[in-house]
Amino acid sequence: MARTGKITVVGAGFYGSTTAQRLAEYDIFDEVVLTDIIEGRPEGLALDMNQSRPVEGFETKVTGQTTTADGDGYEAIAGSAIVIVTAGLPRKPGMSRMDLIGVNAKIVRSVTEQVVKHAPDAVLIVVSNPLDEMTALAARVSGFPAHRVLGQAGMLDTARFTYFVADKLGVPVGSVKTVTLGSHGDTMVPVPSACSVDGKPLMSLLSAADIGELVERTRNGGGEIVALLKTGSAYYAPSAAAARMARAVAEDSGAIMPVCAWVDGQYGISGVYLGVEAEVGSTGVRRVVERDLTQSEQAALRAAAEAVRSKQADVASL
Ligand code: 2OP
Repeated sequence: MARTGKITVVGAGFYGSTTAQRLAEYDIFDEVVLTDIIEGRPEGLALDMNQSRPVEGFETKVTGQTTTADGDGYEAIAGSAIVIVTAGLPRKPGMSRMDLIGVNAKIVRSVTEQVVKHAPDAVLIVVSNPLDEMTALAARVSGFPAHRVLGQAGMLDTARFTYFVADKLGVPVGSVKTVTLGSHGDTMVPVPSACSVDGKPLMSLLSAADIGELVERTRNGGGEIVALLKTGSAYYAPSAAAARMARAVAEDSGAIMPVCAWVDGQYGISGVYLGVEAEVGSTGVRRVVERDLTQSEQAALRAAAEAVRSKQADVASL
């Protein structure tokens, strides 16, 4: 594929900068723009990434740009086909993602306003936490069509579940298929009925108790890493997930991936941003893909939708 287009990552923390690096190393974009409000940080990281080009052998140019609270510097994102919003605070040990809602809502709101101004045709991929609420907020503030705003979480939660299953069974991660739906939080819905190892149902390989443990570890997957790191949260797996979503948009691939998307009638749920599987292409979400769920999985997904719906309504006023 020829190198083409421009993509922006807002926020040059660990999550944002590793996402920018992965995108640049794909070598499919003309330019990756990395912004941050910490003066000099995005420029410094971009310079460092550009100096890795001769070693890694990619030509995508990385541009770093400091932005101000008044929106100075955002001209650099003009013409971006995709904008990934990583801006916001990460959790500290003991915090839930929901504890970040007030402070991150303000940040995501102001970033979104700048994106609308400078990259009005972009597909917006939100990764800031609490994820489902921040995605809904960005959609609302942007006024973009719902399909052009999506959130990253399901890819990450699924990757964690897959890794835990592979580790437990001592098999390659490539032989494991898992699915997680619902929220990126307490109402995450890992779907054991859809999980398999080399084509064999997971439920035939592990006891219900073992699966329950892995499901719980997946639900707490981010918190487990926050507790170990003590400052900051996970970024290698999250950035891998966000970059893959952006790549599906850039290549208009139609890949089916778990994402936070606007749900409008699927699974009997309407009017909420929620983790579901979706076909992803240049317009963002082409369509939500429904799968057969057991009754209890279906009930858990509806409960997740209602939990997220009430918070998404609150966030509109933050
Ligand atoms: C996580 O689960 C950052 O929310 C992200 O690690």
